[in-house]
Amino acid sequence: MAGRFITIEGSEGVGKSTNLAFVCDFLQRRGIEVERTREPGGTPIAEAIREVVLADHAEALGPDTEVLLMFAARAVHLANRVRPALAAGRWVVCDRFTDATFAYQGAGRGVDPEWIQGLADHVHPDLWPDCTLLLDAPPAIGRDRAAKRGEPDRIEQEDNTFFERVRGAYLARADREPRRFRVIDATAPLEEVQQEIGGVLAALVERLG
Ligand code: TMP
Repeated sequence: MAGRFITIEGSEGVGKSTNLAFVCDFLQRRGIEVERTREPGGTPIAEAIREVVLADHAEALGPDTEVLLMFAARAVHLANRVRPALAAGRWVVCDRFTDATFAYQGAGRGVDPEWIQGLADHVHPDLWPDCTLLLDAPPAIGRDRAAKRGEPDRIEQEDNTFFERVRGAYLARADREPRRFRVIDATAPLEEVQQEIGGVLAALVERLG
């Protein structure tokens, strides 16, 4: 049986890593084989692209290049890691996917969403997540938390208005696809957040498992 594809999205400091670990643990306890991964990244080549896209450079790295690098990383990640895992029946739990390109490069950087959609249609016409957990919090709260983690990467250095646009785009996508997205209030105490995520996953295992 083919596996399932779960993605976790949200802007900086919303608790993606902690909750990603919770999701993997929850599924594994139910006997599901899990492949945890991330974008950009997840394979040696995709991780090398991640380094390029998130590092500070002396030369400009424009929005179009950013989009193409995200999709280059995505294409190799899908081919060499995600699709083989799904074919083997594992559940892939991925930290970010194409929704992030619409939010960050589309809404954040002002790249034409139709071009992004075109690239998505080319790279993964047949594959979208079965479920996307969107951890939502106002940028000011998330960025306070993210700042405590140390040096921001090239994208994290953007200002609050950028992250307002990112958040707005995520919420708009969730609105348009209510069956795929679950919006989780990431400002709630962690225990409540995880109770809600647990409920979503239990229903998913019941429906798709
Ligand atoms: P993260 O692993 O901490 O979420 O860092 C990844 C960074 O890359 C984050 O700032 C969001 C950004 N990103 C994009 O801008 N577009 C994308 O398509 C993806 C997958 C990530």
